[in-house]
Amino acid sequence: MLKIKLSGIDVNIPKDIIGIDMGHSLTKIVFMEENEINLFIYSTQKNNTEITNLLETKKEIYKKYNFSGGKSFSFYNYYSTQLKAKLIDEFEAISKGVELLYFLERKKELSNSLIVTIGTGTSIILKNEEILHLGGSALGGGFFMGFIKYLFNINDFNEAISLAKQGNRYNVDLKVSDIYDPQDNRVDSLFREFTAASLGKINESSNLNSLNRKDFINSIICMLGENLGIIATLMADNHKVENILYGGGFLKDNKVLKKILSILSIVNKKKAIFLNNSEYCAALGALMS
Ligand SMILES: Nc1ncnc2c1ncn2[C@@H]1O[C@H](COP(=O)(O)OP(=O)(O)OP(=O)(O)O)[C@@H](O)[C@H]1O
Ligand SMILES: [Mg+2]
Repeated sequence: MLKIKLSGIDVNIPKDIIGIDMGHSLTKIVFMEENEINLFIYSTQKNNTEITNLLETKKEIYKKYNFSGGKSFSFYNYYSTQLKAKLIDEFEAISKGVELLYFLERKKELSNSLIVTIGTGTSIILKNEEILHLGGSALGGGFFMGFIKYLFNINDFNEAISLAKQGNRYNVDLKVSDIYDPQDNRVDSLFREFTAASLGKINESSNLNSLNRKDFINSIICMLGENLGIIATLMADNHKVENILYGGGFLKDNKVLKKILSILSIVNKKKAIFLNNSEYCAALGALMS
């Protein structure tokens, strides 16, 4: 369990509400206790007794349960007969939660931004005077989990992330500079650094035994980051916003992904923002609703 201390911060967070975000992979539950926000995270599985136990024990103290996320419907139905329960639009919840986290961390209001939440899938929200769900991508943490399971039989996200940190994508990925002769001045030095083809160094003469899963996993994270970053950049351009706030569970301790998204933002003249505990955004937004 994590805690965010609120001492010295002037913010009004309801003390009688529990915010619950049940995503496809992870369930996030948040509530105030004394002067701290308590943050819990569980795997979203059928009959997860930890989730049920927590919600059951807290219902004497907390009078309202606010649910967000695609998997919350049956819990909402169950609790709506016992206490005040609300079902909250996920995109509104994400936006409200991001505003709160930003304020707690940076001590100022978040200005117009694109919010890119990389969960099991990826959703993209425009936050200006209103909140607009622009769309998303099926590339995200779910693709990653499926990939590492299928290829390497890895089930543990943290294990995969730690392997990725030790890998070198350029053992398998092809850069522009791998294609163009060094003397060829049709391409400049910046363009040479771009990825020309993910996994493009693997060909019919590659020896499968010499390929390293650390490089593969690193490459896949970079591939996801580059593609999501490009989609986000184009959407930000379309809607004339400079800030791109990236969040969601796939970013958790994921330095490889953060680095790629940061580089892409610099190249495309956008401002990438990463907040701590961003996987709790929708739960925090539900708490604030
Ligand atoms: N402890 C963990 N266990 C499993 N996945 C994790 C863990 N930590 C981070 N992840 C990554 O986070 C992703 C889930 O992120 P998140 O919790 O934001 O999504 P979700 O809310 O469950 O899904 P969605 O909103 O798309 O329904 C997983 O797909 C995985 O890549
Ligand atoms: Mg989610």
